[in-house]
Amino acid sequence: MKLLDGIKLAKKTKKNIRQKVANYVTEGKRAPHLAAVLVGEDPASNAYVKMKIKDCEEVGFKSTLIKKDADISEKELLEIVHELNENKELDGYIVQLPLPKHINEDKILQAIDPQKDVDGFHPTNVGKMALGLETFLPATPFGVMRLLEDYDIATSGKKCVVLGRSNIVGRPMSILMSQPGKHANSTVTICHSGTKNLEEFTQEADIIISAIGKPHFLTSEMVKEGVIIIDVGINRVYDESKKDYKLVGDVDFENIKSKADYITPVPGGVGPMTRAMLLENTLLAYKRFAQ
Ligand code: GUN
Repeated sequence: MKLLDGIKLAKKTKKNIRQKVANYVTEGKRAPHLAAVLVGEDPASNAYVKMKIKDCEEVGFKSTLIKKDADISEKELLEIVHELNENKELDGYIVQLPLPKHINEDKILQAIDPQKDVDGFHPTNVGKMALGLETFLPATPFGVMRLLEDYDIATSGKKCVVLGRSNIVGRPMSILMSQPGKHANSTVTICHSGTKNLEEFTQEADIIISAIGKPHFLTSEMVKEGVIIIDVGINRVYDESKKDYKLVGDVDFENIKSKADYITPVPGGVGPMTRAMLLENTLLAYKRFAQ
């Protein structure tokens, strides 16, 4: 078993970005600028956005946090989105999800200028991704692809099972893994809540990418020897022995690890890569528009 170390690769990626930013600034250019819109007090969203802002500082990006109360109206949030679209000093921005129930998430995401949509959630960017055109890839699937590439994992012609069909992870993941290319080109199956006899799919899989948000869902009996496991789940569970909460993935890591050729830990696998890829996308937005 070999660990796919997302912390190490994210560090290397960030070092690379920091160097590029330092060069731009030495040449007299402004630094890349990322903004994040955070609505409400969801603890996980608060923590994620805080980390994204910290990442910006680490690589020399300018960052702006726009924090709004949960009772902000859809109209007010749309106005903020329009202002960010018009802001010439801003390369890219994200609206952290989920949004409060009274706000139509699709409407907000579709109002974001696709050129500034560093999350890659706008239909224009999703369409470009599906067609294999250059665009902002959603950060989590992008991070998984980078991990597979960096560890030179053989994916071509392999059976890849994606668990979950969310717009943020499962669906884009399935598209990227099925695209041509040395570190993709897999035969992909998406499994979801409507899938019958799930084990029949997972037991046959060479690669399993799990993004369903259920702690320890994927167990040792469900996978074959030599499988490659990518665990996107980040689940907060109470640890009786430590009398505190801890983060666990969708995968029963302790029992599966001996069976797996490669496996991502949680924490320290996909999570750090997601954050690093948001920085990559912001740098891409900057290169396109600020030069
Ligand atoms: N909520 C969970 N993951 C993400 C993400 O990658 N981007 C945004 N904007 N919200 C999220």
